[in-house]
Amino acid sequence: MDLKINFNGSIQDEAFISVLDHGFLFGDSVYEVVATHGNKLCFLEAHLARLRNSAAGISLEIPSEDEWFVEQISRTVQSANFEETYIRIIVTRGVGEIDIDPGSCDRPNIIIIAAPAKVYPHNYYEKGIDLALVSVKRNARESLNPGIKTGNYLNNILAKMEANRLGAQDALMLNAEGVLTEGTTSNFFFVNEGKLFTPSLDCGILSGITRDVAIQLALENGIPLEEGHWPPEELTHAEEAFVTGTVKKIMPATRLDGKPIGNGKPGPITARFMRLYDQLLDEKYGMQPAQGRSQ
Ligand code: PDD
Repeated sequence: MDLKINFNGSIQDEAFISVLDHGFLFGDSVYEVVATHGNKLCFLEAHLARLRNSAAGISLEIPSEDEWFVEQISRTVQSANFEETYIRIIVTRGVGEIDIDPGSCDRPNIIIIAAPAKVYPHNYYEKGIDLALVSVKRNARESLNPGIKTGNYLNNILAKMEANRLGAQDALMLNAEGVLTEGTTSNFFFVNEGKLFTPSLDCGILSGITRDVAIQLALENGIPLEEGHWPPEELTHAEEAFVTGTVKKIMPATRLDGKPIGNGKPGPITARFMRLYDQLLDEKYGMQPAQGRSQ
């Protein structure tokens, strides 16, 4: 694939990591995914802050300052020269002994991948996606806190595989207490009687940057929103639902376990959020021609 990879500051077409890196051996790493709009880096400050929080959450000391990241990410994106870019920033524990104790790892590896922006099929936005309420439970906060974005994604991978088997585009996971959490790489919102609901952070979810933006947009536009603990039964009479994420942006979810959510079509509140989010990106990062939108 056509990529540029920045490995500890050096930009290459291909990069290889030691099999003794604990990121590879044990998933002992943290990461972020950043999208672009007009090839400008969206919400970079928030992503770098979350990267640091995630690293602190696994006691991983990142040896570089934010300025270094900004410079290296910009260099990598420029060198890749795509119309729109998908950026993945990974910080691993580094090379050590074949032993889970991170004490033997002396220096984290920092990898920045620039790939062409990932684009979901247009009809995911026009018709909405199917979600499956899977049997795989989201990791407990007391075990591997979903609020920490680590490179250990097996929990989500297992949920995604179950959703695939069920013919859905993504999984919706409950936590061990049986309340709604999130999708495999997205946060979840639903609408009931014109009001928005989303699982609160203490349900055990990633504090999504797109989720934060959506909450802010709800506040600014007088759309009532409540964060809390919601059992899946709440969805039986939901009118609309959508998922949020850096790559997906605001994506309607119109079926759950093969049954329509509301009338089975993206609803007016979802459409409003999709519009508001696009407008915000245009305002912050410059207007995009309609055909240039990554939908
Ligand atoms: N994932 N929940 C999980 C488990 C995620 O992996 C993600 C994002 C989100 C949404 O967060 P944000 O709005 O900050 O992107 C929620 C990225 C996009 C990924 O791993 O591809």
